[in-house]
Amino acid sequence: MSKTSTAATLEKALARARAQRDADLNDLMEELRIPSVSALAQHRPDCLRNAEWLRARFERMGFKAHLVNEPREGKPVVVAECNGAPGKPHLTIYGHYDVQPADPIDKWETPAFEPEVRNGNLFARGACDNKGDHMTAIKAVEHLAATGELPINIRFLIEGEEESTGYSLPQYLRKHGKDLRTDAVLVWDGGFDELGRPVMATALRGILYVEIHARGAAIDLHSGSFGGNAPNPINTLARIVAALKDTNGHITIPGFYDDVKPPTAAELAEWRKDDAAFQKEALHLTGARALEGEADFLALERKGSRPTLDANGILGGFVEKGEKTVIPATAFAKVSMRLVPDQDWEKILKSLEAYVQTLTTPGVEVHLEKLGSAPPVLSAADHSAARALQTAFEEAFGRKTALMREGGSIPVAVDFQEAVGAPLMISGIGQADAAVHSPNEHLLVSQYHTGIEALIRFICRFAESGSA
Ligand code: BES
Ligand code: ZN
Repeated sequence: MSKTSTAATLEKALARARAQRDADLNDLMEELRIPSVSALAQHRPDCLRNAEWLRARFERMGFKAHLVNEPREGKPVVVAECNGAPGKPHLTIYGHYDVQPADPIDKWETPAFEPEVRNGNLFARGACDNKGDHMTAIKAVEHLAATGELPINIRFLIEGEEESTGYSLPQYLRKHGKDLRTDAVLVWDGGFDELGRPVMATALRGILYVEIHARGAAIDLHSGSFGGNAPNPINTLARIVAALKDTNGHITIPGFYDDVKPPTAAELAEWRKDDAAFQKEALHLTGARALEGEADFLALERKGSRPTLDANGILGGFVEKGEKTVIPATAFAKVSMRLVPDQDWEKILKSLEAYVQTLTTPGVEVHLEKLGSAPPVLSAADHSAARALQTAFEEAFGRKTALMREGGSIPVAVDFQEAVGAPLMISGIGQADAAVHSPNEHLLVSQYHTGIEALIRFICRFAESGSA
């Protein structure tokens, strides 16, 4: 396709997107009604339904689509391809259709899976992470394809296990990586920063997620008859969890920081400029009285280039209303660590396993169960596809893109790098106050429509850039 005809395609697709805003929003709302929570077994049928919903949509757009499920008990990956632009670049677009659990459900103003627009925001679990994101990509491609001239070759890979560190897509990439040739991968699962700028992530943190299980007596006991003699696994577990991090935010697991690489001087200089504004906004977004973290580091370092450890849940004993005088037999805590280059989760898991044994009390047995892990990734943002996306963001949103390290994790990102080998663009359209993973998750409707326009622009620029 010539430059002039790409310009005409761009204008036609933008005009179609502007004319069909209501339909585009309704389509997103339809997907948001599917409660595709990957972490909860009872929602597996919903995950399968969501995968089918996407497959049907891709087929309607003229894509060849199929579901891949490996291992079989996992949630399927939706693979959709259109290769109608020979000689033009190839783009892979990554997203995920699974969402985080909606709880605590009583904190939602309207039900999590009954999407509703209020004050220009669309409220629902997944509105932002990631259905809002991947629907902007699907819509951008749909508007371009409807002109009859999709200017590049595209493969969508939309997985259903991102929020629960699954293996279906990583295994698929590891097995078929060499057949999945592509010029760039749009890892479309990020968002704007606290200062309202589009972001392209130069790093993602890795993760190590464990449960710490504690067992004392063989059965729950009367706390009067046995209190003073019986071991209490809640008390011990609380002490263990507390000991993992000191009051200066320093993690005490032996060797934990050994492989942490400091950021570059250029990164630090950039973060220093933005840190005060970031802290102010982060304080506002958290609604907390103060921010906490490792002393002597910028808040932006603590967000992106320093590792962390957090308890995500702790359970044991009697948690209903009222009193029950009991010494429970068991307790457990969920603890996750965000890891940065060059930390190695296997090394840290071994150290943590040995460390908790030194922290327990004589009558309490503790053991770890690993729930998930992913290594940290670094991603350059100076390749031609990345430049095309930054230009498209600026044209659509009128803001320059911030290049920064993101605190979150996308476990499959490393598999794209290692098995497919193409450069990544890690980005997305949700605004910073979107409350992702929290109650009342929401997406600014204007971000959705402008996001669609930005991606239409990006694809047309990418088409002109030649193979990256
Ligand atoms: N979209 C996020 C990842 C993300 C967060 C990217 C912040 C950029 C900025 C993704 O859906 C996510 O939440 N991932 C999980 C992975 C975990 C369950 C292994 C995360 O980071 O908690
Ligand atoms: Zn998420």
